[in-house]
Amino acid sequence: MTDKRTFIRSVGAYLPARVVSNEELAKTVDTSDEWIQQRTGIRQRHVAAEGELTSDLGAAAAKRAMDNAGIEIADIDLVICATTTPDLTFPATAAVIQQKLGMHHGAAFDLQAVCSGFVYGVATADSFLKNGLGTRALVIGAETTSRILDWNDRTTCVLFGDGAGAAVIELAKPGEDRGILATALRADGHFWNKLYTDGGPSSTQSLGHVRMEGREVFRHAVGMITDVVDKVLAESGYTIADLDWFVPHQANRRIIDGAGDKLGLDPAKVVVTVDRHANTSAASVPLALSAAVADGRIKRGDLVMIEAMGGGFTWGASLIRW
Ligand code: UT7
Repeated sequence: MTDKRTFIRSVGAYLPARVVSNEELAKTVDTSDEWIQQRTGIRQRHVAAEGELTSDLGAAAAKRAMDNAGIEIADIDLVICATTTPDLTFPATAAVIQQKLGMHHGAAFDLQAVCSGFVYGVATADSFLKNGLGTRALVIGAETTSRILDWNDRTTCVLFGDGAGAAVIELAKPGEDRGILATALRADGHFWNKLYTDGGPSSTQSLGHVRMEGREVFRHAVGMITDVVDKVLAESGYTIADLDWFVPHQANRRIIDGAGDKLGLDPAKVVVTVDRHANTSAASVPLALSAAVADGRIKRGDLVMIEAMGGGFTWGASLIRW
């Protein structure tokens, strides 16, 4: 353990211009706006334009996060891109983003924890910086999930959207009051085939499509989320009532509400973007953080809990003094 601490200095977001409503989807798949809204809370999602890549989304969000911090690419030592939809099988999308940002120095790699990718990325950057591997990191969650959906499968294609969010994470100076206070990460690979792609480089030499046993994922989600949130609160000595903001992974409004109820959270403290963004996988938490910072809800000094759960299964939470 070290007494060093890191903090989130800024966040940034990028959403592709094209918005696809539930009504538009219902023209090509056997679904309805009513079903999607009732079961998930989703009204619309953003979809990347032809030729617009995960690295384009990620680089745009990273640029906005750096602009919001008033720093330049020369100030960054590490780029982590959490994604399930890399531009290519290799190299890492983080390396392509580095190139798009004009960065020749530092280190860059991708992180694959599906929807929990950003929470895993924050924990990874926190550890790297505290262990002396730099002063400042860009943690990006970027996805073009639209490219791996089976657009004939109504049980999955209505749920996801494209987008990117990024955070600048920085080593705090001694005495700094803000920072990442506690983190819990979990995985249980026995559940891998509840949410997966039916293809990949080693198995089929193809991309595959998203396959999900939605009800099974739903059944585990609330318990897994509340488990890590409770663990982080216990470790840091805070209670649920101390939170100013709860920024959950945005998969389904019913999961968010279920976790909030079980934790005894005031619903007014929960940041919800799933209605506008749908499930953007690793991008969902930084997109929600960006929305709440941009509209003035999350302010310096606030106590913020982020959490996510997804394929693997992976899940995790982090408590942050903003
Ligand atoms: O990021 C983490 C990963 N993902 C998640 O967290 C998702 C977790 N799961 C869920 O959010 C929900 O399970 C879903 C939204 C995927 C599904 O909601 P549900 O309430 O669990 O519905 P269900 O799967 O039990 O399906 C109910 C009915 C079925 O019809 P029958 O068998 O009752 O006749 C489905 O075929 O709804 C039908 N259905 C649809 N109907 C209209 C499934 N998808 C659709 C659709 N439109 N898009």
